[in-house]
Amino acid sequence: MQTIIEPFRIKSVEPLEQTTPAERERYLEQAGYNLFRIEAGKILIDLLTDSGTSAMSTEQWAAVMRGDESYAGSNSFFRLKRAVDELTGFRHMVPTHQGRAAERILFTVTCKPGDLIPSNTHFDTTRANIEFVGARAVDLPLPEAADTQARLDFKGNMDVAALEALVRKEGPQKIPLVMLTVTNNSGGGQPVSLANIEAVRGVCANYGIPLYLDACRFAENAWFIHQRELGYQAWAPKQIAQRMFSLADGCTFSAKKDAFANIGGFLCTNDDRLAQQETNLLILTEGFPTYGGLAGRDLEAIAVGLEEVLEPDYLQYRITSTGYLGRHIADRGVPIVEPPGGHAIYIDAAKMLPHIPADQFPGQALAVELYRHAGIRSVEIGSVMFGAAARHELLRLAIPRRVYTQSHIDYVVEAILEVNERKRNICGMEIVKEPPFLRHFSARFRPLAC
Ligand code: F0G
Repeated sequence: MQTIIEPFRIKSVEPLEQTTPAERERYLEQAGYNLFRIEAGKILIDLLTDSGTSAMSTEQWAAVMRGDESYAGSNSFFRLKRAVDELTGFRHMVPTHQGRAAERILFTVTCKPGDLIPSNTHFDTTRANIEFVGARAVDLPLPEAADTQARLDFKGNMDVAALEALVRKEGPQKIPLVMLTVTNNSGGGQPVSLANIEAVRGVCANYGIPLYLDACRFAENAWFIHQRELGYQAWAPKQIAQRMFSLADGCTFSAKKDAFANIGGFLCTNDDRLAQQETNLLILTEGFPTYGGLAGRDLEAIAVGLEEVLEPDYLQYRITSTGYLGRHIADRGVPIVEPPGGHAIYIDAAKMLPHIPADQFPGQALAVELYRHAGIRSVEIGSVMFGAAARHELLRLAIPRRVYTQSHIDYVVEAILEVNERKRNICGMEIVKEPPFLRHFSARFRPLAC
């Protein structure tokens, strides 16, 4: 059967508001052509992020009702701890209010100024938290991954030779830990193979450096391994995920992605001394160790989500549906980061709109046009977000989990193909007002004539 069906049915619905082209033009003007500034109620399909936007299941909502809100020793904490223990095997777990809180605690206790943290590619909050403590975040993606069109099975892998060279040059004492982001979000939602995790672990073990996973999308990564890596076809996604975690010494986790939770995260480690320091900082800034920054009901929702996300039917649907969006636009001439990632499709806006130079923000111009045409919200990942440091001019379409149906996806395909047909008429943008940092959230733009 070719039809992709959602392996769930809908019990509770949220209405979507239709808007007219004239209304959308007005909203754009009022928002300074920045989609972060548009009210969510004015968006038809919201592909801004897959983070915190999942639909929870009946089992998760039932668990919410069972949430134990005791300040200390909550049952919900122990429920989550059992789920995390079974999945990851790490000795210690502290809950945090979201992924970046886990990052802040980890880097505060492990890094000193001048240290280096290598990764396949750091996510922006990870990088920012490393830099905040005076250390340096180093990205070591595969050289081939720079080509958006290269179709590699595991394009999210780390360049292991570059890691080894870095450790030799700088010395292991300057590297408190190595990170692997699975899947590699900033690198296009691309997976990392078990062979690569093993190889990175090998280098780390040789030099006595701990390996951490940024595990937000661990289940999607496990599914790609199941599908693509030789020898793992008979393994269940859960077994693959357990193998991934068993190779690491700890992890940071945002439960807003693969745990289907609307908020939450955790930090794990096998190091008893580090766990004590992390717990001390957690109490100071997040909360008592059995709730972190969360309510008991959140801990319950995460515990259930960690199990549900590894169901093969769900993962099969999830990755096939994202791939369907990618293939249907790419095979009709829209350049995307190939191959399609797990949680998102990234359009190469510089390639699609070669008449718009980088300093006129082709990704932003495309985001605005897609909203104007069809009420779809996406996000620029290029020169608006990263300034001169941008390596590509991308537009990310991130797919919330279990939220949109296949006909919503068909609508997105149709809208993008229509915009592609008249792409010559899309003009660049200029910034008229920007804050001193993280300008993409609040900058105001003006469309340029062309
Ligand atoms: N690591 C990765 C790989 C992420 O994608 C994110 C968040 C985080 C860490 C931080 O987690 O948001 O819970 O604090 N990514 C979201 C996104 C924001 O849209 O890709 P958080």
